Amino acid sequence: MDKITLEALETALMASPDNTILRSQVAQGWYSFGEYEKAKEHFTVLIQKDGDMEAKVYLAKCYYQLDNCAPGIVICEELLEQARIEEVLKLYIQLLIKDGQTGEAVERYQEFQEDMDWYDEELERQLKIPIQIDDFLRDDEDDDNVFFEKTDLNFSGVGGMENVKEEIRIKIIQPLVNPELFKAFGKTAGGGILMYGPPGCGKTYIAKATAGEIHSKFLSVGLEDVLDMYIGNSEKRLHEKFEIARRNNPCVLFFDEVDAVGSKRSDLRQSGGRNLINQFLKELDGVDAQNDGVLILGATNSPWHMDSAFLRPGRFDRIIFVPPPDEASRKVILELHLQDKPTIDIDTGKLAQKIADFSGADIKLLIDITAEENLRKSMKAGKIEPIVTKDLLQQVKNVRPSTKDWFNTARNYALYSNSSGLYDEILKYLNL
Ligand SMILES: Nc1ncnc2c1ncn2[C@@H]1O[C@H](COP(=O)(O)OP(=O)(O)O)[C@@H](O)[C@H]1O
Ligand SMILES: [Mg+2]
Repeated sequence: MDKITLEALETALMASPDNTILRSQVAQGWYSFGEYEKAKEHFTVLIQKDGDMEAKVYLAKCYYQLDNCAPGIVICEELLEQARIEEVLKLYIQLLIKDGQTGEAVERYQEFQEDMDWYDEELERQLKIPIQIDDFLRDDEDDDNVFFEKTDLNFSGVGGMENVKEEIRIKIIQPLVNPELFKAFGKTAGGGILMYGPPGCGKTYIAKATAGEIHSKFLSVGLEDVLDMYIGNSEKRLHEKFEIARRNNPCVLFFDEVDAVGSKRSDLRQSGGRNLINQFLKELDGVDAQNDGVLILGATNSPWHMDSAFLRPGRFDRIIFVPPPDEASRKVILELHLQDKPTIDIDTGKLAQKIADFSGADIKLLIDITAEENLRKSMKAGKIEPIVTKDLLQQVKNVRPSTKDWFNTARNYALYSNSSGLYDEILKYLNL
């Protein structure tokens, strides 16, 4: 659903305020747009009308999103008295954690676990890493906060990409969580991971999810954030970004489209470009400052534009190819993005077969245009028309797989300028 449609629905609702189906749609619409205040109002009305259980769960979620935990906790406690639904259990624990009641959260979680043999991987992780919660509170009043993006996304919201998740876990999450162990073996965190691959395949998405995974801050830096026309200023700005991340560790410091910062020296027309690259390398190496607790990730769609200095060992110490999702991953991505939409019996397995070249972004687009179509049908019919497999299959031809062009370019680089072996993964992927 797009915002214009949503606003139209809201207007329609004013004319018939008793239409609960419509109100529920509007409420969920605002929720999905992150407009939690507006969503909250509508869910509250729905609950007053008929004590709708689903609306109560949503209302508690709104409170969670609005950082107003106490009323959310009360709602969950009420709901849990009626029935112990896993979704509510989880939300309840997360509200407690967010509210700073970590001890209580642990206790209640263990209680539920024993009572009903319930286990949640994500909660386990959240409850086992106390350092993050402390740091989270400590930095609360910091002025730096304006630079950070909020994220609720974590690895469970990212489909496939198992090897990328694994690398991130081993190379950068583990050293942060078990610093003593790593010190004992003479290893320190740092170095970072550089991801490359076709657009829309989850590089930016997983960087954000990494921050959500460990409840750290997330600082995303693009070229436009650092480039400055005055000589020397760009380097200063870049240095500042690293310093903010260092002050606020643990922090995921993400360089999106890093190829722009690290373009081949010969490509840079301004003489200042070289200095910027050198500064970047210095910061990455932690020459003048420690990068402890700073998880550095970079992503690029065009690694061939990157200066080879970035690709040497010790800079980014892992360079990973992020391919388009395989069939199993496409199925998971479909499920993830369909989960908050009205659907009936979607055959995601069959669909996953039909969209062989789709990136994650293409899959999301497919779902979005299908959802819009079904919304239109619903408005005509005056009732919700859930998405079925056929609806999605019909739209497949309207989405052009966006990874093909990229592979045409990549193939050339992989075949003709692969002296460092950087593109071996691409050759393997293309069976060349
Ligand atoms: N593995 C994935 N799981 C779930 N959603 C995905 C995945 N990959 C891509 N997407 C969807 O596609 C969008 C674009 O992906 P993004 O991470 O920005 O791609 P890029 O690799 O170009 O950085 C994401 O915001 C997300 O909605
Ligand atoms: Mg990106």
